[in-house]
Amino acid sequence: MSAAVLSESSLSYHDSHDAPLKKSVDECSEPNSTDDASTAAPETPMVSRSASIVESTASVPPTIDNTIILHNVSHSGPSADPKLAGLIKQTRELSELVFDEDCLTEITKKTRWKLTLLATSDYATLCGFAVSRITNGALSLAKIAVPVEFRGLGFGKLIMEDAIKNAKKQNDVYEVCLSSLSTAVTFYQQRLGFKAMTGVKVKTDFEVVEGQVFMVKKLRPRPKGK
Ligand SMILES: CC(C)(COP(=O)(O)OP(=O)(O)OC[C@H]1O[C@@H](n2cnc3c(N)ncnc32)[C@H](O)[C@@H]1OP(=O)(O)O)[C@@H](O)C(=O)NCCC(=O)NCCS
Repeated sequence: MSAAVLSESSLSYHDSHDAPLKKSVDECSEPNSTDDASTAAPETPMVSRSASIVESTASVPPTIDNTIILHNVSHSGPSADPKLAGLIKQTRELSELVFDEDCLTEITKKTRWKLTLLATSDYATLCGFAVSRITNGALSLAKIAVPVEFRGLGFGKLIMEDAIKNAKKQNDVYEVCLSSLSTAVTFYQQRLGFKAMTGVKVKTDFEVVEGQVFMVKKLRPRPKGK
């Protein structure tokens, strides 16, 4: 089973501005984990979800087989495809819900953060998103989220495996790194082969805050001096 994959060339959006950063994208964390990051991911009652997300779940839940991965999606500029605009809207809503901020404001040409979306093949329903960039030979994953109602269906793993696969294709990318909530460590460690790091020697995008765990998945050895 695999999701279809589309690259940026198939998309009709264009980045048109470099908005100032609202909040640095340096942690894969949720808002309610401030002083005690060991708290579980917040459960979101159906009633508080946005209308578009509720609408999207009205029919049969999506499966991996009918999803599509969209890479390097731009979120601003003239919209030629209303279906993509709907996905962007759902992404903002999910981001606000899960991280208490709109991650898209941090994705600009200047910051080089990239947006990946997992959606149903008809572009109607968001199944997850990730924000990542390559820095100093490492793929940094700043954010990943799957809508609450679609968790446990394999979408998170699918997004991560796709990111890892694409990073592996680039010979100058040596590892994938992220700062994990303690609640998600098992997901990365047991399902995706990440290792928790204590003494980190490579330059990274992350300042790990208390309660979070810096995690790395090695792709290939770093040449000396890199
Ligand atoms: C973490 C998250 C992206 C996982 O997405 P998901 O679609 O539910 O995960 P999957 O269905 O692909 O899970 C794959 C496997 O990992 C397991 N898993 C998922 N989340 C897990 C977690 N938090 N802890 C331990 N195992 C987890 C699943 O049980 C599944 O196991 P299986 O292969 O034995 O069936 C999702 O829970 C989420 O959006 N959480 C809120 C935001 C967040 O915490 N992001 C990560 C911050 S670092």
